Amino acid sequence: MTMRAPDSDLPIVLEDVRYGVRDLIIIDGMSLMLTPGAPTVLIGPNGSGKTTLLRLMMGLIEPTSGRVTWGGRTHVPPARRAIVFQRPVMLRRSVAANIHYALAAAGIGRHQHAERARDLLEQAGLSALAERPARRLSGGEQQRLALARGLARDPQVLFLDEPTASLDPAATKAIEDVVRAVSARGIKVVMSTHDLGEARRLAGDIVFIHRGRVIESAPAAEFFAHPKTDDARRFVAGELLV
Ligand SMILES: Nc1ncnc2c1ncn2[C@@H]1O[C@H](COP(=O)(O)OP(=O)(O)O)[C@@H](O)[C@H]1O
Ligand SMILES: [Mg+2]
Repeated sequence: MTMRAPDSDLPIVLEDVRYGVRDLIIIDGMSLMLTPGAPTVLIGPNGSGKTTLLRLMMGLIEPTSGRVTWGGRTHVPPARRAIVFQRPVMLRRSVAANIHYALAAAGIGRHQHAERARDLLEQAGLSALAERPARRLSGGEQQRLALARGLARDPQVLFLDEPTASLDPAATKAIEDVVRAVSARGIKVVMSTHDLGEARRLAGDIVFIHRGRVIESAPAAEFFAHPKTDDARRFVAGELLV
Protein backbone atom coordinates (compact mmCIF):
# COMPACT_ATOMS: atom_id res chain seq x y z
CA MET A 1 0.00 0.00 0.00
CA THR A 2 1.33 3.45 -0.81
CA MET A 3 0.92 6.20 1.77
CA ARG A 4 0.41 9.74 0.67
CA ALA A 5 0.24 12.73 2.98
CA PRO A 6 -3.19 14.35 2.64
CA ASP A 7 -3.08 17.62 0.70
CA SER A 8 -2.99 20.61 2.99
CA ASP A 9 -4.60 24.01 2.39
CA LEU A 10 -1.72 25.59 4.33
CA PRO A 11 0.26 27.66 3.85
CA ILE A 12 -2.11 30.10 2.17
CA VAL A 13 0.03 32.39 0.06
CA LEU A 14 -1.01 35.63 -1.64
CA GLU A 15 1.30 36.90 -4.33
CA ASP A 16 0.79 40.53 -5.28
CA VAL A 17 -2.98 40.14 -5.17
CA ARG A 18 -5.13 42.90 -6.56
CA TYR A 19 -8.89 42.98 -6.53
CA GLY A 20 -11.01 45.64 -8.13
CA VAL A 21 -14.61 46.19 -9.03
CA ARG A 22 -14.96 48.24 -12.21
CA ASP A 23 -12.50 51.12 -11.67
CA LEU A 24 -12.47 50.82 -7.86
CA ILE A 25 -9.33 49.16 -6.42
CA ILE A 26 -10.24 47.36 -3.20
CA ILE A 27 -7.14 45.20 -2.64
CA ASP A 28 -4.07 46.96 -3.92
CA GLY A 29 -1.22 44.48 -4.26
CA MET A 30 -1.10 42.24 -1.18
CA SER A 31 1.54 39.60 -0.54
CA LEU A 32 1.07 37.43 2.54
CA MET A 33 1.74 33.96 3.86
CA LEU A 34 -0.51 32.29 6.44
CA THR A 35 1.01 29.29 8.21
CA PRO A 36 -0.32 26.80 10.78
CA GLY A 37 -0.36 27.99 14.38
CA ALA A 38 -2.08 30.55 16.57
CA PRO A 39 -4.82 32.76 15.06
CA THR A 40 -3.95 35.35 12.45
CA VAL A 41 -5.96 38.49 13.12
CA LEU A 42 -6.65 41.05 10.40
CA ILE A 43 -7.04 44.55 11.80
CA GLY A 44 -7.66 47.84 10.10
CA PRO A 45 -10.27 50.56 9.92
CA ASN A 46 -13.69 50.08 8.36
CA GLY A 47 -13.45 49.88 4.61
CA SER A 48 -9.76 48.90 4.63
CA GLY A 49 -10.46 45.59 2.84
CA LYS A 50 -10.68 42.98 5.62
CA THR A 51 -13.86 41.28 4.40
CA THR A 52 -12.64 41.27 0.81
CA LEU A 53 -9.32 39.76 1.88
CA LEU A 54 -11.14 36.98 3.78
CA ARG A 55 -13.28 36.24 0.70
CA LEU A 56 -10.15 36.01 -1.45
CA MET A 57 -8.44 33.65 1.02
CA MET A 58 -11.58 31.52 1.26
CA GLY A 59 -11.63 31.37 -2.55
CA LEU A 60 -15.09 32.93 -2.90
CA ILE A 61 -13.77 35.60 -5.26
CA GLU A 62 -10.80 35.55 -7.62
CA PRO A 63 -8.05 38.16 -7.71
CA THR A 64 -8.15 40.61 -10.61
CA SER A 65 -4.40 39.98 -10.82
CA GLY A 66 -1.79 38.11 -8.77
CA ARG A 67 -2.62 34.74 -7.25
CA VAL A 68 -3.70 32.87 -4.14
CA THR A 69 -2.40 29.36 -3.45
CA TRP A 70 -3.48 26.83 -0.85
CA GLY A 71 -0.68 24.41 0.04
CA GLY A 72 1.03 25.37 -3.21
CA ARG A 73 -2.01 24.73 -5.41
CA THR A 74 -4.38 27.15 -7.13
CA HIS A 75 -8.17 26.78 -7.39
CA VAL A 76 -8.49 24.41 -4.44
CA PRO A 77 -12.19 23.81 -3.67
CA PRO A 78 -13.11 24.88 -0.14
CA ALA A 79 -13.64 21.37 1.24
CA ARG A 80 -11.22 22.04 4.10
CA ARG A 81 -12.03 25.71 4.67
CA ALA A 82 -15.03 27.37 6.29
CA ILE A 83 -16.08 30.99 6.63
CA VAL A 84 -18.47 32.62 9.08
CA PHE A 85 -19.87 35.92 7.87
CA GLN A 86 -20.62 38.93 9.98
CA ARG A 87 -24.38 38.49 9.77
CA PRO A 88 -24.96 34.76 9.47
CA VAL A 89 -28.29 33.60 8.07
CA MET A 90 -30.05 30.92 10.11
CA LEU A 91 -32.50 28.40 8.73
CA ARG A 92 -35.96 29.02 10.16
CA ARG A 93 -35.68 25.80 12.16
CA SER A 94 -34.17 24.56 15.42
CA VAL A 95 -30.54 24.97 16.41
CA ALA A 96 -30.05 21.21 16.02
CA ALA A 97 -31.68 21.24 12.56
CA ASN A 98 -29.27 23.98 11.46
CA ILE A 99 -26.36 21.76 12.50
CA HIS A 100 -27.81 18.68 10.81
CA TYR A 101 -28.23 20.71 7.64
CA ALA A 102 -24.56 21.78 7.78
CA LEU A 103 -23.44 18.18 8.36
CA ALA A 104 -25.44 17.00 5.35
CA ALA A 105 -24.05 19.88 3.23
CA ALA A 106 -20.54 18.85 4.28
CA GLY A 107 -21.21 15.34 3.02
CA ILE A 108 -21.01 13.69 6.46
CA GLY A 109 -22.79 10.31 6.46
CA ARG A 110 -26.17 10.21 8.19
CA HIS A 111 -25.10 7.57 10.69
CA GLN A 112 -22.56 10.04 12.11
CA HIS A 113 -24.90 13.02 12.42
CA ALA A 114 -26.24 12.45 15.94
CA GLU A 115 -22.83 12.11 17.51
CA ARG A 116 -21.23 14.92 15.50
CA ALA A 117 -24.14 17.27 16.22
CA ARG A 118 -23.86 16.58 19.94
CA ASP A 119 -20.15 17.30 19.79
CA LEU A 120 -20.56 20.54 17.79
CA LEU A 121 -23.32 21.83 20.10
CA GLU A 122 -21.07 21.10 23.04
CA GLN A 123 -18.10 22.92 21.48
CA ALA A 124 -20.23 25.97 20.79
CA GLY A 125 -21.81 25.90 24.27
CA LEU A 126 -25.28 25.40 22.77
CA SER A 127 -26.25 21.97 24.11
CA ALA A 128 -29.03 23.40 26.27
CA LEU A 129 -30.47 25.35 23.32
CA ALA A 130 -30.58 22.53 20.74
CA GLU A 131 -34.37 22.61 20.30
CA ARG A 132 -34.78 26.41 20.24
CA PRO A 133 -35.77 28.10 16.98
CA ALA A 134 -32.43 29.36 15.63
CA ARG A 135 -33.81 32.77 14.68
CA ARG A 136 -34.91 33.37 18.27
CA LEU A 137 -31.35 33.10 19.61
CA SER A 138 -29.47 36.18 20.79
CA GLY A 139 -26.83 37.68 18.51
CA GLY A 140 -24.00 35.96 20.36
CA GLU A 141 -25.77 32.59 20.36
CA GLN A 142 -26.42 32.90 16.62
CA GLN A 143 -22.72 33.63 16.07
CA ARG A 144 -21.83 30.49 18.05
CA LEU A 145 -24.30 28.47 16.01
CA ALA A 146 -22.71 29.86 12.84
CA LEU A 147 -19.32 28.78 14.23
CA ALA A 148 -20.64 25.29 14.94
CA ARG A 149 -22.03 25.06 11.40
CA GLY A 150 -18.65 26.15 10.03
CA LEU A 151 -16.95 23.44 12.08
CA ALA A 152 -19.31 20.77 10.71
CA ARG A 153 -17.06 20.06 7.76
CA ASP A 154 -14.06 19.67 10.06
CA PRO A 155 -12.08 22.44 8.39
CA GLN A 156 -8.36 22.92 8.47
CA VAL A 157 -8.82 26.69 8.19
CA LEU A 158 -11.66 28.72 9.71
CA PHE A 159 -12.24 32.31 8.54
CA LEU A 160 -14.26 34.56 10.83
CA ASP A 161 -15.38 38.03 9.78
CA GLU A 162 -15.72 40.26 12.83
CA PRO A 163 -17.38 37.51 14.88
CA THR A 164 -17.98 39.71 17.91
CA ALA A 165 -19.06 42.94 16.21
CA SER A 166 -21.86 44.58 18.21
CA LEU A 167 -21.87 41.94 20.97
CA ASP A 168 -21.71 42.73 24.68
CA PRO A 169 -18.70 41.65 26.79
CA ALA A 170 -20.24 38.37 28.02
CA ALA A 171 -21.25 37.30 24.51
CA THR A 172 -17.85 38.38 23.19
CA LYS A 173 -16.08 36.28 25.82
CA ALA A 174 -18.18 33.24 24.93
CA ILE A 175 -17.16 33.58 21.26
CA GLU A 176 -13.51 34.16 22.11
CA ASP A 177 -13.54 31.03 24.30
CA VAL A 178 -14.81 28.98 21.35
CA VAL A 179 -12.16 30.51 19.09
CA ARG A 180 -9.39 29.64 21.56
CA ALA A 181 -10.65 26.06 21.91
CA VAL A 182 -10.88 25.65 18.13
CA SER A 183 -7.37 27.00 17.69
CA ALA A 184 -6.03 24.74 20.45
CA ARG A 185 -7.37 21.76 18.49
CA GLY A 186 -5.10 22.73 15.61
CA ILE A 187 -7.55 24.52 13.31
CA LYS A 188 -6.00 27.60 11.75
CA VAL A 189 -8.20 30.58 12.62
CA VAL A 190 -8.02 33.68 10.42
CA MET A 191 -10.28 36.42 11.70
CA SER A 192 -10.93 40.09 11.22
CA THR A 193 -11.81 42.56 13.91
CA HIS A 194 -11.75 46.27 14.43
CA ASP A 195 -11.49 45.65 18.19
CA LEU A 196 -7.86 46.03 19.25
CA GLY A 197 -8.52 44.44 22.64
CA GLU A 198 -9.77 41.33 20.90
CA ALA A 199 -6.75 41.30 18.62
CA ARG A 200 -4.45 41.44 21.65
CA ARG A 201 -6.35 38.64 23.39
CA LEU A 202 -6.46 36.20 20.48
CA ALA A 203 -3.78 36.90 17.91
CA GLY A 204 -0.62 34.96 17.29
CA ASP A 205 0.03 37.14 14.26
CA ILE A 206 -1.36 40.48 13.21
CA VAL A 207 -1.94 41.65 9.68
CA PHE A 208 -2.62 45.38 9.74
CA ILE A 209 -4.31 46.63 6.60
CA HIS A 210 -5.24 50.10 5.47
CA ARG A 211 -6.68 51.24 2.14
CA GLY A 212 -6.35 47.79 0.59
CA ARG A 213 -2.69 47.35 1.45
CA VAL A 214 -0.83 45.33 4.07
CA ILE A 215 0.91 47.99 6.16
CA GLU A 216 2.45 45.55 8.67
CA SER A 217 2.41 41.82 9.26
CA ALA A 218 4.12 40.61 12.43
CA PRO A 219 3.85 38.42 15.54
CA ALA A 220 1.25 40.06 17.79
CA ALA A 221 3.62 40.79 20.70
CA GLU A 222 6.03 42.52 18.38
CA PHE A 223 3.32 44.43 16.53
CA PHE A 224 1.78 45.87 19.69
CA ALA A 225 5.11 46.60 21.43
CA HIS A 226 6.86 48.11 18.42
CA PRO A 227 4.59 49.08 15.56
CA LYS A 228 6.92 49.97 12.72
CA THR A 229 4.84 52.42 10.77
CA ASP A 230 3.21 55.68 11.67
CA ASP A 231 -0.22 54.41 10.64
CA ALA A 232 0.12 51.32 12.87
CA ARG A 233 1.35 53.42 15.80
CA ARG A 234 -1.63 55.71 15.43
CA PHE A 235 -4.07 52.81 15.07
CA VAL A 236 -2.66 51.05 18.16
CA ALA A 237 -2.90 54.34 20.06
CA GLY A 238 -6.61 54.44 19.22
CA GLU A 239 -6.48 57.32 16.76
CA LEU A 240 -8.93 57.33 13.89
CA LEU A 241 -7.35 56.54 10.55
CA VAL A 242 -9.21 58.05 7.62
N1 LIG B 1 -18.40 44.30 -4.53
C1 LIG B 1 -18.04 45.55 -4.22
N2 LIG B 1 -18.34 46.59 -5.04
C2 LIG B 1 -17.96 47.85 -4.75
N3 LIG B 1 -17.26 48.19 -3.65
C3 LIG B 1 -16.94 47.21 -2.81
C4 LIG B 1 -17.29 45.85 -3.02
N4 LIG B 1 -16.81 45.11 -2.01
C5 LIG B 1 -16.19 45.97 -1.18
N5 LIG B 1 -16.25 47.22 -1.65
C6 LIG B 1 -15.64 48.43 -1.04
O1 LIG B 1 -14.28 48.11 -0.78
C7 LIG B 1 -13.85 48.67 0.45
C8 LIG B 1 -13.34 47.53 1.36
O2 LIG B 1 -14.46 46.78 1.79
P1 LIG B 1 -14.37 45.61 2.88
O3 LIG B 1 -13.48 44.55 2.35
O4 LIG B 1 -15.77 45.24 3.18
O5 LIG B 1 -13.67 46.37 4.09
P2 LIG B 1 -13.71 46.07 5.66
O6 LIG B 1 -14.22 44.68 5.85
O7 LIG B 1 -12.31 46.28 6.15
O8 LIG B 1 -14.63 47.10 6.25
C9 LIG B 1 -15.01 49.42 1.01
O9 LIG B 1 -14.87 50.77 0.64
C10 LIG B 1 -16.21 48.80 0.32
O10 LIG B 1 -17.28 49.69 0.22
MG1 LIG C 1 -15.79 43.93 6.87
